[in-house]
Amino acid sequence: MEKMEITLNINDKFHEVMVYPNETLLDVLREKLDMTGVKESCGEGVCGSCTVQMDGKPVRSCLTLAVEAQGAKIKTVEGLANGEELSDLQQSFIDHGAVQCGFCTPGMLMSADALLSENQNPDEKAIRKALAGNICRCTGYAKIVLAVAHAAEPNDHCSDCKS
Ligand code: FES
Ligand code: FES
Repeated sequence: MEKMEITLNINDKFHEVMVYPNETLLDVLREKLDMTGVKESCGEGVCGSCTVQMDGKPVRSCLTLAVEAQGAKIKTVEGLANGEELSDLQQSFIDHGAVQCGFCTPGMLMSADALLSENQNPDEKAIRKALAGNICRCTGYAKIVLAVAHAAEPNDHCSDCKS
């Protein structure tokens, strides 16, 4: 199998990279572009830890070939913060204790960020539906759901919020 050069638009920057036709987006992000925010757990589309966005939609990068991602706008967890300034969503995860081991967090953030781009005021049902494909072994989900809800309404302070 021969390598080919592709161009990927990741977090609004273009990257030219040599890939095999069967290389996953996950492997290219982590191993060739040093974007290790995206995590691999199951490697077979079940856990959601490898979630990134393609054209605003959450996708499992372990099931997406890098060549399929050409021409799309890819957003990874590295694209959420503005320099040193965390996004409201990231800050809300911290404020609400929604991060424990943190392994699921990048995928959770990317699914939640996609939801909030489409629905700025999601109810609990919509949040749980958007995160249904993201598995967390630590938190029990309640704090994650709260963090997403609060990020949608950052000025609506709640008793669990330390800010
Ligand atoms: S590593 Fe991709 S879904 Fe689990
Ligand atoms: S915080 Fe540990 S898996 Fe979610």
